[in-house]
Formats: sequence, structure tokens, C-alpha cells
Amino acid sequence: SKGCKLVGCGSAVPALEISNDDMSQIVDTSDEWISVRTGIRRRRVLSGKDNLTTLAVEAARKALEMAKVDSDDLDLILMCTSTPEDLFGSAPQISKQLGCKTNPLSYDITAACSGFVLGLISAACHIRGGGFNNVLVIGADALSRYVDWTDRGTCILFGDAAGAVLLQGCNAEEDGLFGFDLHSDGNGQRHLNAAIRENESDNALDSNGSVLGFPPKSSSYSCIQMNGKEVFRFAVRCVPQSIESALEKAGLPASSIDWLVLHQANQRIIDAVATRLELPSERVISNLANYGNTSAASIPLALDEAVRSGKVKAGHTIATAGFGAGLTWGSAIVRW
Ligand code: ACO
Repeated sequence: SKGCKLVGCGSAVPALEISNDDMSQIVDTSDEWISVRTGIRRRRVLSGKDNLTTLAVEAARKALEMAKVDSDDLDLILMCTSTPEDLFGSAPQISKQLGCKTNPLSYDITAACSGFVLGLISAACHIRGGGFNNVLVIGADALSRYVDWTDRGTCILFGDAAGAVLLQGCNAEEDGLFGFDLHSDGNGQRHLNAAIRENESDNALDSNGSVLGFPPKSSSYSCIQMNGKEVFRFAVRCVPQSIESALEKAGLPASSIDWLVLHQANQRIIDAVATRLELPSERVISNLANYGNTSAASIPLALDEAVRSGKVKAGHTIATAGFGAGLTWGSAIVRW
């Protein structure tokens, strides 16, 4: 059977930085409340000419550069995002802006904060199934566009960013994906969502007074609604279980983990998962102080910083896990 391995990573963040003190000017909050409850100190937010596609392309370019792979040698681009700049999908635009002359298959994956882990496993399945060799997995989100900036319970949490990895086919002996575990549960949607809703003032249709209930009213997505306590409980319960199950499939003990790279949502969630797995804090990667919760981007963003700073080295074993809206969650044990 064919193996796959990680050969490059990259990331990009918008220029505008918003501190906790800046946040306290728009909602009733404080640097102290935000840093004690979440560990977040600042976040980056799209502004001016920044957009999500450009960030995704920049992250992808850096990953290709590190891997020394030409964009024309890509076979597949998976854009993991819940905030695409085109409802019909944004991945083909990324392929275009990367200048891929070979038009690799490119499509979007929607799974909120679990998007990157799901994309990584999907990439591995494509490679192992045959027909794909160089697969770019991008995690990118701009939740700032869907946050209710008057809701202090959510708007302080999120930031915008993009991260990418390149996964490459290899022989079975070199295989770097040791085990994984993926889940979803629609019962938890009520705790975290940005559901579609009909626009209230739809004058054209009101005057038609459609008896048939047709055509439908125009709709748009609501702001992010979250029950923070429930999401917190879900993460602390399900993430360690998922990592333990991925470790079991890999046939590895938790002590073999060199680095824990979790979705960066809340420092207290990261600490609770590490404690449950009995991993010392020296083996835990955390950068949410600087970026907040960047949804599908947070894992490749944290990984990229840890690789470029020299923490994560070739041959290290990484346990990664994503969790979020859907609800969705999952983990993977990989070698860098
Ligand atoms: N500043 C000051 N006070 C605040 C703020 C704020 N920004 N936000 C809430 N409060 C207040 C509340 O109003 C409440 O006041 P009260 O006691 O007078 O009613 C008090 O602080 C406590 O609020 P809680 O919501 O109970 O605070 P909690 O300790 O649960 O922390 C938090 C909230 C940080 C959101 C936490 O629940 C959390 O991190 N949950 C997980 C969220 C998450 O990780 N989501 C990730 C998935 S995102 C995705 O997939 C898109």
C-alpha cells in the first residue's frame, strides 16, 4: 500500500492587528478578562486590500517553496474553509492564482475548525487510493466577516489567517500518517452555528405575495451563534478520546508524542487536553495569544511557526486535533 508524508508548510496572516485593549473599545470587555479566560492577547483581521484567497495563495506558495515542489506538479488542491469568497467554492481560484498551468483538481471542504484535519485525511485517502501524488491542503478562514461585533461572548475569540501543508505520496516504509480518527454529530449544531436565514426586507417578493411559497426569499448567513460553555465541555471531552483512539490505531503510546498541535481555540482547552494525555507543557505548541481562534487555519499556522522556529524537527511525531462547529472533531498522528 502507498504511503504519504508531509513535505512542506506555510502560513499567512492579514496586516491589521487588533489588541485586547482595542476590543475593549468596541465591546464591554478587558484585556484581563480575555487573557485569563482564553489566553488570547491579539488577533489579525482582514482589512483594506487583504482577502482570504490572497492569504491562502501566500500560505500555499510558502509550503511549495519549502517542499521544493513546482505548482505545476500539484495533482490536487483542497481548500478547507467555512468562509469561501465564492459560495460555489474557492479552490479553483487558488489554483489559478498559484499559476498552475496543469489545472489540478481543486475543491473546497467545509468543516469549520475541524476542516484542516479532515482535509489532511482526505488528501491521504486520495494519495493512497492512487492517481494523486502532490496534494496541497490549505486551511483558511475569515470568521471576522461572520462575527457579531456587538457580542462580547464571541467577537473576542476569532482571527483571520491561512495555513497550508503539502502532502506527498511515498513508499509504505516512509509513510508519515500513523493513525487518525474523525467524527461529526449534528445534534450539537445548536451550540455553534452560522445558519442561513431569510432576509427580512424582501420587498420584491412581498409584493408578489407568492401563494405557492415560491420563489424562495433571498437569504444570507447569520452571525456566529455560540454557547461557549457547551462547546468548551464538548472539546475537553471529545478531543482526548479522539487522540487516544488515533494513537491506538497507530499502535503508539501517548508518550511517543513529541508535539501536541491542537486547534487553537482556548488555552484552557489546550491545557486540559494535554493534562488528560499526561503531556508536559514543553511538548505543547500554542500561538493563540497572537492570533486568536483562526478556525481551519489554526493548526497549519501553529505548525508552520513551530517548524520555522526549529521546535518541530524532521522525524518528530505530532498529534494534531481539530474540533468545532457541526459539531465536528478529529485527530491525526503524523510524522514531520
Ligand atoms: N468580556 C467580559 N465579560 C464577558 C465576556 C467578555 N468578552 N464574554 C462574556 N463575559 C461575561 C458573561 O457575560 C458572563 O457574565 P455573568 O456571569 O454576569 O453572566 C461571564 O463573563 C461568564 O461568561 P461565560 O460565557 O460563562 O464564560 P466562560 O468562562 O465560559 O468563557 C468562553 C467564555 C471564553 C467563550 C469559553 O466558554 C470558551 O472558550 N468556549 C469555547 C469556545 C470555542 O472554543 N469555540 C471553538 C470552536 S469555534 C468554531 O468551530 C467556529
